[in-house]
Amino acid sequence: MGAELRVFESRDPSGRTINYLRLSVTDRCNLRCGYCVPPGGVEWAARHHHLTDDEILRVVGVAARRGLSKIRVTGGEPLVRPGIVELVARLARVPGVTDLAMTTNGLLLARHAEALRRAGLHRVNVSLDTMDRDRFLRITGRDALRDVLAGIEAAERAGLAPVKLNMVVQRGVNDDECVAMARLTLDRPFHVRFIEYMPVADFESWRARHMSNSEVQALIDRELGPLRPVARGGHDGPAVVYRVDGAAGRLGFISAISDEQFCGRCNRVRLTADGQLRSCLFSSGELDLRGALRSGCGDDALHELFERALAAKPFAHDLAEAPQAQMLVTMIGIGG
Ligand code: 5AD
Ligand code: SF4
Repeated sequence: MGAELRVFESRDPSGRTINYLRLSVTDRCNLRCGYCVPPGGVEWAARHHHLTDDEILRVVGVAARRGLSKIRVTGGEPLVRPGIVELVARLARVPGVTDLAMTTNGLLLARHAEALRRAGLHRVNVSLDTMDRDRFLRITGRDALRDVLAGIEAAERAGLAPVKLNMVVQRGVNDDECVAMARLTLDRPFHVRFIEYMPVADFESWRARHMSNSEVQALIDRELGPLRPVARGGHDGPAVVYRVDGAAGRLGFISAISDEQFCGRCNRVRLTADGQLRSCLFSSGELDLRGALRSGCGDDALHELFERALAAKPFAHDLAEAPQAQMLVTMIGIGG
């Protein structure tokens, strides 16, 4: 079957190779992180607006033929979608999918890690902004740090490696934990990734709390440095990767706001849980795959929609200049 599969490379008009699909499988979440969920909450899409497993499989089949061989399952929180393990198993069998990962908040991971691994998931990224129980409650709205830590352990045991830990750094909230998070890589093979806070759900707090990754890096460098650059790997995407001398794991810096080269390294498109194809997190352009699927379209129509998404992929964002104008997006709907 593999021999029959003809895969072609997808490039956008500025020459970026697009090989990565972020696939949101639900807009629901069992946490309420302030930087993701707007203060008034979000209105969830009715379940019948979510793509079904069969619809997702069709889209991923087309995407994989277009060279989008890396799939990341996201949400909301993907593990709250009913039947997620079976969906992962089916995704793992799509011809042309070579890398299958998931971003999760970890709450339900201890329960599912082993089954996910058996289903064919390769890796997980787990959100971990703090290792302090009260702080975790303040950031996420739930007293659940223990479950997340158990989820991280279970992921490592199950071989969902490397386990990446995502920390959104917020000044005055958790910036004093950057060095401790970096220390986790000294004797465990974690990839700890520092993610610049983006203006998504709460513009007012963003202004005060945004902290550039160069500042974070300097803090870590002073305590644990000098940091050694690591050659970019196939799974790094826009992250810039370092290692503390002799450490088992790595440090990644994802600087969507301060790094002017960031968009130039972007290799992705996104599919929302309700079947809208987006070529950029911060552009409002969406292409309605669900509508096409439900009107009985053929695969060539889906290919055509992918073409259009790539043609419309912006070359850069202007978040730092016009954050308020971009606030219409919510991570929870689009999938980080
Ligand atoms: N800024 C940066 N990252 C965010 N995420 C969600 N909201 C934001 C934001 N405002 C990312 C976090 C989290 C993942 C699910 O989405 O990395 O771990
Ligand atoms: Fe849920 Fe992740 Fe958003 Fe937090 S950041 S509310 S865990 S989707």
